[in-house]
Amino acid sequence: MVYLRKIAVADDIRIYNMLQEIGSNDNGFHNKVYGMSYHQFREWLENECSVDAGNLEEWMVPQTSYWLFDDEKPIGYGRLRHYLNDQLTETSGHIGYAIRSTERGKGYGNQILSLLLEECKKLNIRRVQIGANSDNVLSNKVIKKNGGILIRVSKNKNFYHIDLT
Ligand SMILES: CC(C)(COP(=O)(O)OP(=O)(O)OC[C@H]1O[C@@H](n2cnc3c(N)ncnc32)[C@H](O)[C@@H]1OP(=O)(O)O)[C@@H](O)C(=O)NCCC(=O)NCCS
Repeated sequence: MVYLRKIAVADDIRIYNMLQEIGSNDNGFHNKVYGMSYHQFREWLENECSVDAGNLEEWMVPQTSYWLFDDEKPIGYGRLRHYLNDQLTETSGHIGYAIRSTERGKGYGNQILSLLLEECKKLNIRRVQIGANSDNVLSNKVIKKNGGILIRVSKNKNFYHIDLT
């Protein structure tokens, strides 16, 4: 069974290993854990869980981070911002996601976005914005398959809206 689970302080080496299979800037998805030691990962995780619990810096909007699992195996990483500020509207969007490199091309990309959109509905986000690098063929495909309508192209990035009403 494929499902999302919120990140947790107790997450262990299996998550760390997955995150080593997602580049630090993987086609526009930023993964700070890539290249970290396991000790650094644990500190990062604690901070990330604290942010998700609402301990935000002034410039941050509320966010929730998830792991995609297939049964017991961690497959991917998803981030969801609960609303957009001006800068996020201009440069990014509500959702970011990545699948570990050894599990790409098996349908998980479509699944993680579909599941993240279900989480958006729970948060009453009616119109989701997602940005993808114009040359990121797979991500553009995944977004369109999940109902994405291209609304803007700017600085080699495509911006899509997905209406959830
Ligand atoms: C983009 C990404 C999430 C896609 O994940 P994935 O699990 O490989 O995607 P899927 O297996 O669901 O495939 C998505 C589509 O691409 C197609 N595809 C997959 N691998 C392909 C390949 N090697 N060549 C051509 N098409 C391919 C699939 O057929 C599918 O198309 P369809 O829905 O029309 O059948 C993944 O490549 C990734 O993690 N990239 C790095 C991070 C990133 O780009 N994130 C998005 C920006 S925030």
